This record gives sequence, structure tokens and C-alpha cells, in this order.
Amino acid sequence: MDTLNGRVAVITGAGSGLGRELSLLCAKAGMRLALADVDVAGLDTTVSLLPEGTEAFTRQVDVSKPEAVEALCDATYVSYGAAHLVFNNAGVAASGPTWTSTLDDWNWVLGVNLMGVVHGVKSFVPRMLASGEPGHIVNTASLAGLSSVPGSSVYCVSKHGVVTLSECLHHELQAAGGHLGVSVLCPAFFKTGIAESERNRPADLAEANPLGEEYAKFVKAAIEAGRLSAADIARITLEAVQEGRFYILPHGGAVRQVETRMRDILEQRAPTNPLGTA
Ligand SMILES: NC(=O)c1ccc[n+]([C@@H]2O[C@H](COP(=O)([O-])OP(=O)(O)OC[C@H]3O[C@@H](n4cnc5c(N)ncnc54)[C@H](O)[C@@H]3O)[C@@H](O)[C@H]2O)c1
Repeated sequence: MDTLNGRVAVITGAGSGLGRELSLLCAKAGMRLALADVDVAGLDTTVSLLPEGTEAFTRQVDVSKPEAVEALCDATYVSYGAAHLVFNNAGVAASGPTWTSTLDDWNWVLGVNLMGVVHGVKSFVPRMLASGEPGHIVNTASLAGLSSVPGSSVYCVSKHGVVTLSECLHHELQAAGGHLGVSVLCPAFFKTGIAESERNRPADLAEANPLGEEYAKFVKAAIEAGRLSAADIARITLEAVQEGRFYILPHGGAVRQVETRMRDILEQRAPTNPLGTA
């Protein structure tokens, strides 16, 4: 996209972490904002941090619900008549061995992380295509979408899904004329509220992996140790969008991890453990 000033950004998961930093950065670039989250208080805090004069509306949206995302899209077009930059960013994490992961874990995490992106694409892309205006979709995956991490299979499955969905979408958008682009964001750990994802788990999906706590300790420690901040990741992401880059891997070490996995596959050897644990 040539310019962001005056264009419309839609950001899910805007009430915390990366979504909040993307909101601030887009506002600083002069964009008009549609901010969505399940966490209304978090959205209010984000709005309180926006530069004065920013045009923004907030909406409580559970991205796992198609009708809620469709209503967000309707509200965006009613308010602004357009959507140019759509960040399908809301996400949650669950930990623990695959065989003790509950169906509630699977339904919750896949519902938010994967189906949330599906709903964002289904609602926004047809209208963005029809408008003929330039636009871009940014799907937040993770390095966990390009690797296989013990104790994180539910999360990894959701993020691998986001990566391949984005790759397919890229090809399709090219064939559809190329005025819409897509990027997939694959960061390693950085400090946000993701380790406290349980705060957003719905009551009807309450049964968590009984061994999750043990694994979650590792995730919390890795997040605390993250070298890049959420603001860094937001800045790198927006730069990549402006360059029209598809894969966004903000952490340098990630490249080696991905390369090792690819070599394992091509040489048909057992997968290397990315954590280096037994
Ligand atoms: N922090 C990391 O280390 C890391 C690494 C790789 C990828 N990611 C991804 O980055 C994205 C942003 O997460 P974050 O790290 O900023 O965490 P975060 O917890 O700070 O923010 C996630 C936001 O999503 C919202 N959310 C949760 N469930 C929702 C739902 N059903 N509908 C709408 N909103 C919902 C939360 O309320 C929260 O505001 C996620 O997709 C996450 O998987 C994070």
C-alpha cells in the first residue's frame, strides 16, 4: 500500500499486547481504526492511549463467532465505507501433552486462532475485492506455525493452519488481480498477555489440559525472556506490509529453526526438537 494516512485499519485482539501496539502505530500513521476484542476494558485502555484526534470505534467481538465478525465488518463499512488493512490478530494459547489436551482446548484454541482468521477473511475479503481499492490482510500466526513444539500441539496446529491458509490466500489474491495482498506474521516469544490466555476462556469450554500448568511454566519463562517488545513486532510488521512482504519473521533465530525442520522433512529424518529437550 502506497500510503496509510486516511486509510482504514481493522484490528482484532486490539485490547492487549500486539493488537494494542498495532492500533497505536496505525493511529500514528493517520489511519482510521475499527478495534475489536472480547475484552471491553482492554479496548478502552487502548483507545485512551491513541493520539488525540484519532478516528476510532471499538466493538466487543468474539472472533470464533462468524456472525460477530460479520457484524464488525458491517460496522466498519457503515462507519468508514472501506477496510484497507485487516489484522486478524486475536489469539489464545493452551499448553500440555497432545494426549491429555481436552476437546475444550481444541475447540477453544482452534475456534479463536484458526476460525477467527477464517471468519475475518470470509467477511472482509469479498468487500475489499469488490471495492477495487488497494488493501492488505495480515494474519498473525507464530513461529509455532512453522515448527512443532512439544507441549504446544493445539497451539501449533492452529498456527500451522493460519500459515497455510495465508499461503493459499496469497495465490488466490494474485489470481484475482493483485490489488489485495496478504502477509503472515510468525514471531517467536515476546512479552504480552498471551501466557494469561485462560482469562479469556469461555465458561462452556472450561475443561483445560490437566498437565497444562507444567508446560505453561516454560512458555511464561520464554515470554518473559523475549528480546523484542510488542511495539518492536508491531513496527516490523507495518514496515513489512508497506514493503509488500508475505512472510514476516521478526526474530532472526527463527530462520535457523525453520531451516532445520525443512531439512528434516526433505531428508526424511525424525523431527529435531526445537526446544532441545529430550
Ligand atoms: N506473545 C507471543 O509470544 C506471541 C508469539 C507468537 C504469536 N503470538 C500471537 O500474537 C497474537 C496477539 O497475542 P498477544 O501476544 O498480543 O497476546 P495478548 O493476550 O496480549 O492479546 C491477545 C488479545 O486477543 C484477545 N482475544 C482472546 N480471545 C478472543 C476472542 N475469542 N475474540 C476476540 N479477541 C480475543 C484478548 O482479549 C487479547 O486482548 C496472537 O494471535 C498470538 O497467538 C504471540
